[in-house]
Amino acid sequence: MTDEREITLTVNGTEHTVEVEPRRLLVHAIREDLDLTGTHIGCDTGNCGACTVLKDGEPIKSCLMFAAQADGAEILTVEGMEDLPEADGIHPLQEGFREEHGLQCGYCTPGMLMSGKALLDEDPDPDEETIRDAISGNLCRCTGYQNIVRSIEYAADELADRAAADGGAVTADGGASASPEGGHEPPAVGGDADTFCGREDCCGGPSEADPFDREALLDDAEGGNGDAAVDSTDTAVDADDRGDSV
Ligand code: FES
Ligand code: FES
Repeated sequence: MTDEREITLTVNGTEHTVEVEPRRLLVHAIREDLDLTGTHIGCDTGNCGACTVLKDGEPIKSCLMFAAQADGAEILTVEGMEDLPEADGIHPLQEGFREEHGLQCGYCTPGMLMSGKALLDEDPDPDEETIRDAISGNLCRCTGYQNIVRSIEYAADELADRAAADGGAVTADGGASASPEGGHEPPAVGGDADTFCGREDCCGGPSEADPFDREALLDDAEGGNGDAAVDSTDTAVDADDRGDSV
């Protein structure tokens, strides 16, 4: 005997009525009943954060809630981010993850974006420690977290710039993290022969080198490439941070 009940979920601004069994998890209702598969399932046990959505503005792990418990709630999923008032084609957080290489496989990204959105709604100018705390419930197996933090910082700067351009309030520190021209200041990442990915606008590798010629890259790095020295420091920070972020 099925024991379904009718619930109403307003997801990304659209009201849906769905029939669910009492045991149906919210994440399954979102993905399977509403076909919004941007919300991921990584563990089903509340550990990974891939299923994070906003429920009435608060980040929740949708694998830890029955759909029936969300009856009447407003849900925001990653699919709704581009339609938010602060978005311009794509949301500044999505832009930040693209610009700062905040993803590799992308599995954690929807959850990271939702946690980032909840953070910036509450604190538009978070420091690094606050960002790391906000995403501490979201696991990433790929990035080492450093670029995810930068991505959220990028979004905070971008939102502050837009607010300033619109005549609104700037961040608490006067938008200090934004560049004087109002644009985002990219992080200092230099060319390192061991990590150069082949894109100058990414890892800042030597311009003349074949990105797949490892010997040439090593020669260039050993030949006093200033950027390489910067990057070696930066990579060390990444390695340290990797252990702190989870
Ligand atoms: S799927 Fe929900 S926390 Fe991992
Ligand atoms: S980018 Fe692969 S899990 Fe985060």
